[in-house]
Amino acid sequence: MELPRFNGDDPYGWLAMAERYLDYYELPPNQWVLVASPGPALPPFDPKGFLHWQPEQILDRGMFKKKNTAVTKWLIKWVGLPTEDATWEEANDIIAHYPEFQRIGVFLQISHKPLKSRRRLAPTHHPQPSDKQTEREREREREREIAAAMEHSSNVSEEYPMKGGDGPNSYAKNSIEQKVVVDATKELLRKAIKEKLDLEPFNTFHIADLGCSVGPNTFFSVENILEAVIFEYQSRGPSSEIPEFQVFFNDHALNDFNTLFKSLPQNRNYYAVGVPGSFYGRLFPKASVNFFHSSFALHWLSRVPKDVMDKNSRAWNKGRIHYSNNQDEVFKAYQAQYAEDMECFLRARALETLHRGLIVLNLLGLPRPFVEIVGFDILGSCFLEMAGKGIITEETVDSFNIACYFVSPQELEVIVERNGCFSIERLETLPQHVLKHGAKVAASTLRAATEGLIKQHFGEEILDDLFSLYQQKVEEQISIYESKMPFVLFVVLKRKTN
Ligand SMILES: C[S@@+](CC[C@H](N)C(=O)[O-])C[C@H]1O[C@@H](n2cnc3c(N)ncnc32)[C@H](O)[C@@H]1O
Repeated sequence: MELPRFNGDDPYGWLAMAERYLDYYELPPNQWVLVASPGPALPPFDPKGFLHWQPEQILDRGMFKKKNTAVTKWLIKWVGLPTEDATWEEANDIIAHYPEFQRIGVFLQISHKPLKSRRRLAPTHHPQPSDKQTEREREREREREIAAAMEHSSNVSEEYPMKGGDGPNSYAKNSIEQKVVVDATKELLRKAIKEKLDLEPFNTFHIADLGCSVGPNTFFSVENILEAVIFEYQSRGPSSEIPEFQVFFNDHALNDFNTLFKSLPQNRNYYAVGVPGSFYGRLFPKASVNFFHSSFALHWLSRVPKDVMDKNSRAWNKGRIHYSNNQDEVFKAYQAQYAEDMECFLRARALETLHRGLIVLNLLGLPRPFVEIVGFDILGSCFLEMAGKGIITEETVDSFNIACYFVSPQELEVIVERNGCFSIERLETLPQHVLKHGAKVAASTLRAATEGLIKQHFGEEILDDLFSLYQQKVEEQISIYESKMPFVLFVVLKRKTN
């Protein structure tokens, strides 16, 4: 179906046709003007004739010096203006002026096309009093939503602990992929500590590893952090007193903390504490932690988005177990859940992080927000095959969803800037090859991570057959599987002083 250009006749008829067209293709609002007027479109004017600046796309990003701090700026392409008229704007300003910029899912990819010129054009957005009022109302509404979400997260966050113990299917024995990430980011972590951590003469230096699971990877992470911090203290000379260290190991209350504590390194130079609870809520007293770390954990959402489970919703995820390769509404429900969860995470950490403290994250991500995650597609096809053979029912497949979201760097940046409490000191994508270990490891890693969840929903008896089928299917398409693996994003955030 094509939308004809407006030729001046029958404006109401054309508008009705345009609405049907945009609705049919489910185009996001930021693309409406472009689609409805191919070729150069006039910048949008509001009913009073004011030029209404509307961001369309983030073309590029950069850190810029402002007084003594670094601020993030985005190169914004404005709706109705050519790329050449894109302007560098402070990310904070864009988020403050255009709160809907995040909500409507404008997480667009950075354009790799070279720009002809980067002409500075001072945007002259003149918010009207009514704009400001609705903006404030929206902001207040958002505040209420987030406060409720944090409360909810602390109380009823769904728990998906890894397989406990140290048996053959345990997480402790099947987490080589996660170990590789800890190793691959060791040098980046050391550099971040050297360059970004303000070392003050603390009596006790507090470190928290969020989503620590049962070990042993959490111990390697902690060891790497301690090694780098102690080195920095030592390199300041003999007069610099090395503090004592306290390490908080956090995970869901159902995590196998017994296995974790039984395997604590004997010769550790820190005091260990277990902290049960969801990292999407508050875990620590105000301003009490110097250094937060989390590896391979923040792709777990606090819950399956509720619309995905609702038969009456457009986002109902029938016959599938994830948003991968899925209809737009399902993806949007996951994306919105992730944005809400991360906002809760950042708000809680903003309160708990000490003045100019650091958060270092190894996240599973994707270069663009919406792509296929072959592993989940294969797992979904295994369930359907088992349903076809009558081993499980179709209804149990319809009501099963995996609560994982793989963020893109651009999405994450919008979320952090929007939260406003942290500066992004580093945001790097690691080469994809760090996660390639073949079909057997892929199957045992996924099993250790999801066995509890699957057992609870489908029963224990299907587990062996399910994961041998999964391994076989991964083997059959190993090159596609490996080329579509998620990436690891290495992220360093620093608590702002204000
Ligand atoms: C794949 S494991 C990673 C463990 C460890 N960091 C590593 O690198 O091996 C993810 C862990 O995050 C935990 N997790 C997921 N969501 C969580 C939440 N909201 N709060 C606390 N822990 C969570 C899971 O229980 C699980 O133990």
